[in-house]
Amino acid sequence: MASYLITGGAGFIGSTLASTLIARGHRVRVLDDLSTGHRARVPEGAELVVGDIADGTMVAEMMEGVDGCFHLAAIASVARCTEEWEASHRTNLSGTITVFHAAARAGVPVAYASSAAVYGHGAAAVLSETTPTAPRSAYGADKLGCELHARAAGIVHGLRSIGLRFFNVYGPGQDPSSAYAGVISRFLDAAAAGRAIIIEGDGGQTRDFVHVDDIVTGLIAALATADCEAPVLNLCTGQPTSIRALAALCAAAYDRPLVTTNRPPRAGDIRHSCGDATQAFRRCGWHAERTLGPSLRHMAELAQPA
Ligand SMILES: NC(=O)c1ccc[n+]([C@@H]2O[C@H](COP(=O)([O-])OP(=O)(O)OC[C@H]3O[C@@H](n4cnc5c(N)ncnc54)[C@H](O)[C@@H]3O)[C@@H](O)[C@H]2O)c1
Repeated sequence: MASYLITGGAGFIGSTLASTLIARGHRVRVLDDLSTGHRARVPEGAELVVGDIADGTMVAEMMEGVDGCFHLAAIASVARCTEEWEASHRTNLSGTITVFHAAARAGVPVAYASSAAVYGHGAAAVLSETTPTAPRSAYGADKLGCELHARAAGIVHGLRSIGLRFFNVYGPGQDPSSAYAGVISRFLDAAAAGRAIIIEGDGGQTRDFVHVDDIVTGLIAALATADCEAPVLNLCTGQPTSIRALAALCAAAYDRPLVTTNRPPRAGDIRHSCGDATQAFRRCGWHAERTLGPSLRHMAELAQPA
């Protein structure tokens, strides 16, 4: 049995990770300020401490006696980071440095959430870790900053880390009611209610959708390989799906006819985003196992009233 600290463990990905670690018999400590996370999501058996990752004293206390840290706490919405530039920077970069510093002092390895947003529009059809980074948002810039600080901390403070560039993560537990909800939870919510699915732009933009359970196995496998060189890996499927095709799959998940309406595209929206997961397989033996169609059906079944 090992003991882990999960920052952001009351959120979508962190709480799924916490449940998996508890089910495997490990001890889990969660640090979360509940700004977008929910207390009820933290699984039974996990210890929840409500606090801020930018509070160095608290983070140092939480780091004591753990075997590893999964750092997931962030303001995870690109739009919110645009609106709240300085506040999101305080959490997404300064808070991450606080976590790295405490982990380095305690000798604890860290697996942390980076993002495909570091690639910006992407200089390649399929984005690999050697594709030049060119973030186009405060969110992406801070995620890239996390990677740079992890590298520096490996050299200067001996921090063992690994950064995971998640692509578009989906799965049960995403909140469709939030103004910043992910596209899949919004589309499924509309399909369930029999409303038209709203597509921003022409729907030809593509994304690489990766299931949260695959992200969780990737995080666990990656932590075991954290080192002072601070590697970064894509966690993705390598399969692009257009937003139009996604809308059709979401309608089909509820056995509904596809009804859509179009809105103007979002300013600065990235046209195509698809990752290459070769390095994650080489380093950790990881590949995404879930496919979109059956996973959406499963999510629709879970959402049906019993
Ligand atoms: N969901 C995706 O598609 C996706 C894609 C790429 C990267 N990521 C990254 O994965 C991580 C988890 O994302 P998620 O989708 O689970 O988001 P989420 O909003 O559900 O979870 C983030 C959690 O962090 C907590 N938090 C925020 N600020 C905090 C602070 N200052 N101190 C302590 N806790 C704080 C929130 O309350 C929340 O529980 C984030 O780092 C995000 O940037 C997510």
